[in-house]
Amino acid sequence: MVRSAIVPVAGLGTRLLPATKSQPKEMLPVARKPIVQYVAEELVSSGVHDILFVTGRGKSSIENHFDADPELTSQLAAAKKADLLKEIDFSELQANFFYTRQRVQRGLGDAILCGESFAGEQPFVVALGDSIVGLNGHSRCVERMIDLFESKRAACVVAVEEVPEHEVSHYGIIHPADGDGETFRVQDLVEKPAAAEAPSRLAIAGRYVFAPILFDMIRQVKPDKRGEIQLTNAMKMLCDEGRRVFAVKLRPDEKRYDIGNFPSYYETFVEFALADPEYGAAFRQSLRELLDKA
Ligand code: UTP
Repeated sequence: MVRSAIVPVAGLGTRLLPATKSQPKEMLPVARKPIVQYVAEELVSSGVHDILFVTGRGKSSIENHFDADPELTSQLAAAKKADLLKEIDFSELQANFFYTRQRVQRGLGDAILCGESFAGEQPFVVALGDSIVGLNGHSRCVERMIDLFESKRAACVVAVEEVPEHEVSHYGIIHPADGDGETFRVQDLVEKPAAAEAPSRLAIAGRYVFAPILFDMIRQVKPDKRGEIQLTNAMKMLCDEGRRVFAVKLRPDEKRYDIGNFPSYYETFVEFALADPEYGAAFRQSLRELLDKA
């Protein structure tokens, strides 16, 4: 059983400055909720209840978000705002939250290494704290990944999403060996390949399941030009050693929303706001009027 997840949220988020100057990008709101809340809810819905956030300086609002706030709670109770009280009661989520810090931002691989003692000898999920999967985070891809991980006795299962050819150079791309269309054995991975050299259009999509052997691989990865330990390089080592690496393709209703840059943050916010049960319809109307004017 895979019950724990490492959620790296320590990055500096420089592509979203100045919005991320003193607040974590993972706390940016997408419609009604901050990004990390969608991530935590998605994990719990897939049966993953122990969640370690790898945080850094200036990220304490993530801890505060999931904590109880007695003053706010008593004010809302006095005002008889039962619906809002329910919204902020994270004990209902039935997740156990843990926190540790990555002291220096040495890349995603290094951030995951901070979770080694937490994971211990057990397999674990990694969910990027700046990515939502599925509208409103409704996706069971992690559950399917865990099933595949267990049935194939894998060392790694990674979620992938088909991207247009002109976008392959922005992502880690897998080289599939064989597969049935929904799942693939992975023979290699390439970080940000040129379109002509890409082995497929299947981009790594921010969700992973790993055996603890990953930590040994990360320790062997040499820092890149920017001094960062890249997770993709550690995964490539798993493939090179002939270990069993698989990919699960996200379904059409499981779009990956990567909130790391402004264009995709804007798009994600608008798509989620349009789906808001209370305000979506009115927002759709005002958006139409804005577009007609433009
Ligand atoms: P990104 O690759 O988007 O990096 O991180 P970043 O540093 O946050 O953003 P930019 O490039 O400066 O704009 C993907 C995920 O990995 C985490 C981030 O918090 C994000 O959730 N991360 C990244 C870490 O936890 N530590 C790191 O050293 C780097």
